[in-house]
Amino acid sequence: MSQDQKTVYFTIDFHLVSREKPMLYNIYINSSTVKDKDHYVKIVKPGEVLTDADVEDFKKYQRIHVLESERGLYLQSLAENDDFESLDKVTAIKDSAVKHLDDIFNPGKEFNTEILGEALDGCHDSMKAMVGVIKDYDINSLKNLIGELSFHDFYTYDHSINVSMYSVLIYKQYRPKASEADLVAIGLGGLLHDLGKTKISTEILNKSGGLSDEEFAEIKKHPELGVELFREANPDFPGLKKEAIERVIVEHHENIDGSGYPKGLKGPDHHIFSKVVSVADFFDAITTKRSYSQALPIEDALEIMKKTVGKKIDAEIFDFFVKKVSKVILTGKTMIELPEDFNTEIAHAELPVQKVQPKKLGENFTKAPDNPNKIEK
Ligand SMILES: [Fe+2]
Ligand SMILES: [Fe+2]
Repeated sequence: MSQDQKTVYFTIDFHLVSREKPMLYNIYINSSTVKDKDHYVKIVKPGEVLTDADVEDFKKYQRIHVLESERGLYLQSLAENDDFESLDKVTAIKDSAVKHLDDIFNPGKEFNTEILGEALDGCHDSMKAMVGVIKDYDINSLKNLIGELSFHDFYTYDHSINVSMYSVLIYKQYRPKASEADLVAIGLGGLLHDLGKTKISTEILNKSGGLSDEEFAEIKKHPELGVELFREANPDFPGLKKEAIERVIVEHHENIDGSGYPKGLKGPDHHIFSKVVSVADFFDAITTKRSYSQALPIEDALEIMKKTVGKKIDAEIFDFFVKKVSKVILTGKTMIELPEDFNTEIAHAELPVQKVQPKKLGENFTKAPDNPNKIEK
């Protein structure tokens, strides 16, 4: 843990403070009124039990804070608390995940192995909490929840977070007895699938026109670069399924028929998590409105995906996904004409970063630079 992390605080909402339960984390106020001369004072210790009146009383302080190093405990207490609305919980968990993803993907921020290690630590905490909240959802409810989450704030990291949530859910329904460690691993695989793109120049990543062969060759390095970064950071939590996460990162552009990259592996050689993340990735890419494309309705998205079964995505996972996604029955009649030269990479071609700017900033993370192309990592 770096020196910095010990002394960094983040702000929490009053309404997400646990009541009538022993607290898991400390709460602080900033007693200084002088800018840049913060003075944090502890007002709640772990084990204390707060009432509604206590929390109401804290509002006189305007803001309350938690140590960054206790963010995991804060998320855990959120996930475990049935008194809070799912939307509130998932919003807070998502805010945390966004903060950590920004530490990784924002080219305007300092980046090194230690920073990546701390960010992975935070992603792990966020994913544990997320698994706790969403594992019992069905996919339609999750789609609605994701819609609500993006309705208020549209962030550059939505895609990574959505893919991780869909992956957790698909896998949980595919393997109802899946362990928490499996769900956290597949969620982290989804969250970090494009980790290697931090090593590709933003100029190439953000190019709006077609890519030259050389540029595409450069992009194709990101799965292997992602694994290298992940290994260098060497996250080490009890029970973490690192090998499975690495497989997702390196295999997320492999296609079932062997036409993908980097290795051209065929279906039987793909990790089951990679197959699930591929379906989640494809689904989110075509059902989310982006600055450069319209969102497709679910039925149309499923039609598009169906045409790539056996080529790009796995038949069993897709069938399973369709059954769970909705009561939509694919009739076989074509609703959308797929062009002959349909490129299965298109849906993946865009980064979850830098393409769009946040519309609104939350309290807990930093704005991306206005012109990210200027700075390269
Ligand atoms: Fe990718
Ligand atoms: Fe993706």
